[in-house]
Amino acid sequence: MQQIDPTQVTDNFISLIGKEWMLITAGNLSSFNTMTASWGAVGYLWNRPVAFIFVRPERYTFEFIERNDRFTLSFLGDTHREAYKICGSRSGRNTNKIEEANLHPLVTPSGLVTFEEARLTLDCQKIYTTPIQKDSFIDPAIYKQWYGGTHGGDHKLYIGAINECYVR
Ligand SMILES: Cc1cc2nc3c(=O)[nH]c(=O)nc-3n(C[C@H](O)[C@H](O)[C@H](O)COP(=O)(O)O)c2cc1C
Repeated sequence: MQQIDPTQVTDNFISLIGKEWMLITAGNLSSFNTMTASWGAVGYLWNRPVAFIFVRPERYTFEFIERNDRFTLSFLGDTHREAYKICGSRSGRNTNKIEEANLHPLVTPSGLVTFEEARLTLDCQKIYTTPIQKDSFIDPAIYKQWYGGTHGGDHKLYIGAINECYVR
């Protein structure tokens, strides 16, 4: 695992997150949870590199993100589609999906959990959080499409300052 400066990452995060997907992981090696995410962003805010993630409150991972100051974003690459599907359809509440997905947890030098399979890991420190607000949607059709009904609870947004960046 090699540490690089966030500015050295050349990936296109629109396709990386939206098409390739990522794992959001929070907790420590003895107690952590991970889930697949395909909504989010990486950019620059308040004079620092940041990542935005959106997590529904019913996710088991939500509890770990709430309880911990930091989380990781792990990018496994296209070859791990099956692992993403498992981590995005089963809950760590009632399955050992890490084992089922054949993922191998790894502690980053900064003490967070990622996976041996990750080709890129962003180590993030929570700096801002807020629930999605129905009344803030300019286009109410988007809220109607993605919230209420069978989709689940309103997402909570977390902005994480990207402290460390690791590549394999
Ligand atoms: C491709 C894909 C993308 C997903 N993106 C998100 C997301 O951005 N936010 C979210 O809350 N859930 C997302 N999910 C759903 C969670 O990954 C899923 O509910 C998972 O089983 C939660 O696991 P947990 O209960 O162990 O946390 C996504 C699922 C898939 C398959």
